[in-house]
Amino acid sequence: MADDAGVSRAAELLSHGGLVSFPTETVYGLGADATDATAVAQIFAAKERPSFNPLIVHVPDVAAAQKLGRFDDQALLLARTFWPGPFTLVVPALPDSPVAALTSAGLDSIALRVPSHPVARRILAMSGKPIAAPSANRSGRISPTTAAHVLADLDGRLDAVLDGGATNVGVESTIVACHGEDIRLLRPGGIPREAVEALLGHKLISVADTGDAAPRAPGMLASHYAPAAGVRLDAVDVRPGEAWLGFGGLQPGGAEPVMSRNLSAEADLVAAAAALFSALHALDASGARSIAVAPIPKTGLGEAINDRLSRAAAPRPGKA
Ligand code: TXA
Ligand code: MG
Repeated sequence: MADDAGVSRAAELLSHGGLVSFPTETVYGLGADATDATAVAQIFAAKERPSFNPLIVHVPDVAAAQKLGRFDDQALLLARTFWPGPFTLVVPALPDSPVAALTSAGLDSIALRVPSHPVARRILAMSGKPIAAPSANRSGRISPTTAAHVLADLDGRLDAVLDGGATNVGVESTIVACHGEDIRLLRPGGIPREAVEALLGHKLISVADTGDAAPRAPGMLASHYAPAAGVRLDAVDVRPGEAWLGFGGLQPGGAEPVMSRNLSAEADLVAAAAALFSALHALDASGARSIAVAPIPKTGLGEAINDRLSRAAAPRPGKA
């Protein structure tokens, strides 16, 4: 129940890496501490997503949002006008943000939202943490607007559901990306496009009115993280000038790696997902010409890990 005891129990679970579903004014979210990469990896595991898409980070107010993302005047105007409410802003992430790299799927931007639902607001106030929360449904299913929908889809995969009755907006938040002068509608939702355009005094560029803001074409938002180094998958040895990204106990043959990381020495896929983006950043920064990656099973979260790595490995324009 979403009474005081329920809300404080939920905040407690969240602060220990738990998964808690809670109502927002749009749909029920599946929440985890956005600064805890392992907890965020559990969201992807529970949803059975075959790929990592960046998650919306929920915060109590504009001031909390400004600790995580960079707001220019336009972004601030949008935030002050439409928050709290069914509105999400994608802004450049601050370099010292405590949010886990997995939360934004390795992007250098962050999606922030201040919900208006009283239960969501109490959880955010009580937990004191930014909360990553996609809609609380399994991948490919319909977004839940009641606690019963959440349980029908995810029972046994989360620690608690706070029942706050049916949500009233029923569609997800509107997502607008603000990168300087470039302001785009990434997903239509609870705040009408016209309201945003009236405030800004100009039309919004739409990315794709598919209901899902994930940039499909690589480079569409010029922000999808791809390492500068090449990526070589299913490697069992290291070639000269390469860095090594290990998994499990495999000891690579070949050359001495420029730098070496192991996603999970215990071959745990949740731990590996939690470590993936920070490991890629670190190995890329080592200056290695390429990153040799150990074979990673394709089951469970391994599917999303392999999806991300094969995108990083795909040939890109301007690269040999
Ligand atoms: O109403 C809502 O927004 C609900 C409630 C729970 O708050 N949440 C929700 O989250 O719909 P989700 O994960 O189902 O959708 C998040 C969308 C995805 O389409 C994702 O691609 C986009 O936000 N997104 C998140 N971070 C982004 C970023 N840095 N750049 C571009 N798109 C981003
Ligand atoms: Mg969703």
